[in-house]
Amino acid sequence: MSSPVVILDIGASRVRCLVGQAESSGDCKVLGIGTSPCRGIRRSAVIDMPLVVESMRTAVAEAERAAGLRITGAYAGIAGRDVQAHASRSAVAIAGPSDPIDDEDVERALAAAEATAPPSEAAILHRFVQSYAVDGEPVQNPLWLHGHKLEVETLSATASDQACTTLQRAAEEAGVAIAGFLVESVATAASLLSTDERDMGVGLLDLGAGTCDMALYAGGSLRHLAEVPLGGQDITRDLSMVLNTSPREAEELKCNFGGVCTDAEEAGEPLTFQTTAGRSHTIKREDLDGIIEARQQEMLEFVAQEIESSGCGHLLTTGMVFTGGGALLRNLDRFGEEALRMPVRIGVPTEIIAPESVQTPEYATSIGLLRFACDTGVDLRSSGGGRSRSRFVDRVARLFSFL
Ligand SMILES: Nc1ncnc2c1ncn2[C@@H]1O[C@H](COP(=O)(O)OP(=O)(O)OP(=O)(O)O)[C@@H](O)[C@H]1O
Ligand SMILES: [Mg+2]
Repeated sequence: MSSPVVILDIGASRVRCLVGQAESSGDCKVLGIGTSPCRGIRRSAVIDMPLVVESMRTAVAEAERAAGLRITGAYAGIAGRDVQAHASRSAVAIAGPSDPIDDEDVERALAAAEATAPPSEAAILHRFVQSYAVDGEPVQNPLWLHGHKLEVETLSATASDQACTTLQRAAEEAGVAIAGFLVESVATAASLLSTDERDMGVGLLDLGAGTCDMALYAGGSLRHLAEVPLGGQDITRDLSMVLNTSPREAEELKCNFGGVCTDAEEAGEPLTFQTTAGRSHTIKREDLDGIIEARQQEMLEFVAQEIESSGCGHLLTTGMVFTGGGALLRNLDRFGEEALRMPVRIGVPTEIIAPESVQTPEYATSIGLLRFACDTGVDLRSSGGGRSRSRFVDRVARLFSFL
């Protein structure tokens, strides 16, 4: 039986802690879940460390109780401005052209590309090969081919050292050592996007509370990462201000009744809420949706601009997959299709052995992180960079002790 794995998904609305385990069948099973509201993050940056630490403690304690484990270490997701994708290329000479290209040659080429990839003060968390060429000819796999020169193009997903250190400190204060960082949208994509989608071209949009994180895939590989600095909290704030109601009431209105592309038969439905002055007010559903639509439209315009500037728009043959709590907004797939002029589906994590309550878009990142961490075939790097997977596994194995 493999060791349990723990992840922390530190979001702008909640910290989630999940304990899971890889089954012998290869499936990942959730053993325990803890969540706690978090008010110490704005967009994706920590703005109040003690609040983040408190949320982590609460989420971890709940997960410990649920799983019957003492948690001392976890993998953490990282996202936002501090995460970037860097393209790089390298070329290495192949010794003795009579010998075919072997693993060592490929590793040398990848290491040379990696050396030129990240800016200083950033750690490479994931590396994606974009293309190989042998003596200038593109090849899918250079192994066992003959030639003088091997070229490789890679895209590395990096996180700033500062962001990693901040989260690491917060976790340490909460009694949890960070075993490694994972880029949230890369982990989410791994669990939500099919191999066919990634081969044919697809975009992932994680609509969170503070930000929307985007990852674009084509030809089976990551092509672009971006963040739109708007999220569900902006919609709630708009409702709260326009309707003169508390953020809590606005959030409930949005989650229970809000939507976009209002259906004609529901448009006139009266919805009642309390103003901050304690009066009862009524709004028609189409008017509520109108306020939400304005902000949602703005978010999707940013997304469209990001896709355009990535230069990958034409590669997204299968369209976009929306996930995150914001993807629960009624009719968002239809609205997204109109705004982005491509197919949109809502991504729900299902390939996991877990209670139904977590098989919702809100848990897509947490489940993605857990599956990624459970997956033994994955090349994980810590913020320190460069550690091999086996040493990681050894280290992680020591991070847990059964109660
Ligand atoms: N039914 C719903 N309709 C609309 N929005 C919803 C619904 N349910 C949840 N949300 C919104 O989803 C957001 C929370 O999503 P999620 O849990 O993915 O965010 P997060 O991970 O905490 O934030 P981030 O990823 O930005 O750090 C909140 O803004 C919430 O209002
Ligand atoms: Mg999130």
